[in-house]
Amino acid sequence: MKGLLLAGGHGTRLRPLTWNGNKHMLPIANRPLLYYGLEHLKEAGVRDVAIILGPIKEGIEEQIGDGSRFGVRVHYISQGDPKGLAHAVLCAREFLGEDDFLMYLGDNMLEHGAAPYVQRFAQGDATAVVGAVKVKDPRHYGVVELDGQSRIVSIEEKPALPKSNLALIGVYLFTPAIHPIIESLKPSARGELEITDAIWALHQRTGKVQVIELDGWWKDTGQPNDLLEANERVLASRPPAFFRVEGRIDHGANVSGHVALGPGGEIAAGATVRGPVVLGQNVRIESGAYIGPYTSIGDGSVIRRAEVERSILMENVTVDVPFRIVDSIVGRGTTMTERRHLPKGHSFVLGDASQVVL
Ligand code: DAU
Repeated sequence: MKGLLLAGGHGTRLRPLTWNGNKHMLPIANRPLLYYGLEHLKEAGVRDVAIILGPIKEGIEEQIGDGSRFGVRVHYISQGDPKGLAHAVLCAREFLGEDDFLMYLGDNMLEHGAAPYVQRFAQGDATAVVGAVKVKDPRHYGVVELDGQSRIVSIEEKPALPKSNLALIGVYLFTPAIHPIIESLKPSARGELEITDAIWALHQRTGKVQVIELDGWWKDTGQPNDLLEANERVLASRPPAFFRVEGRIDHGANVSGHVALGPGGEIAAGATVRGPVVLGQNVRIESGAYIGPYTSIGDGSVIRRAEVERSILMENVTVDVPFRIVDSIVGRGTTMTERRHLPKGHSFVLGDASQVVL
């Protein structure tokens, strides 16, 4: 079985974090989002993976390379402009050949990965297996309606009036029977080749599309708050062995719960850290600072006086402010300090589409 890991798109809903980088390389618990997807493909038994790249591909090839570090062979396919999930399959047609394949959306996080779906696919004679989960507001997703015997009645992409609350998640298994359908697909009203339309057509043609309801949590990381939620869920569910202390915790530092500290890092006497928290290499938490649960801080960052809770700070961030920062995402190299001269007030240098909540 081959794997297709989607990392294209513009990531517009995550601006300004995605102006100069691909959204799939944003960190969750200090690791790029895409690494989790690659690991899930590997765990599911996939060894040949094609990563679909869009217009913003910075960092992906450089960091993932040929995939050997992850135990898979990685190929790269350029999609260019995001013309839809089914278009991504079309771009990978040669790579996929006549093999079955697992398509995984790179911006999705799943607690139990893709292996349970692959097992169900391998056990039966379905032409496709798709994952689904009940959500509060299904209008933002592909929505599937089932009858009492779990047979598909309808599938629609982002319907204004959803017929059920069962949303498609980013895990799809296909036999090559999907290819002729995608080759004859027409763009939807929003101009994309929709995988949802292809699945519906495959269901009508073969009657063998299986929907599997998810067990465990799932997160589509389309918006900033989704990243914070994913960070929280990952930190809450990592085993104790994940939280290695390779740096120095000074005598007199107040550390409780699960805390990871990278090499060269330091938690100084008089600092308080309450896990679950991940601190990268050479991170310094100075005396008087407080780091609260569900916080990830990237390599080289320094926290002086501030309190930081349920936040993601990327690499080389310096924080020295007399207040508490919560539910925040801070990009690389950002400095936050107190203004010590007149006129009093807050002073900002913000990139396009930044968000400030005081
Ligand atoms: O997250 C689950 C949902 O994902 C499903 O319920 C929907 O049926 C499905 O269409 C999709 O909806 P989204 O609006 O979340 O799709 P998005 O545009 O965010 O793209 C999903 C991933 O695929 C993301 O990692 C970017 C990548 N992508 C997207 C498009 C449109 C590509 O690589 N190429 C593309 O052309």
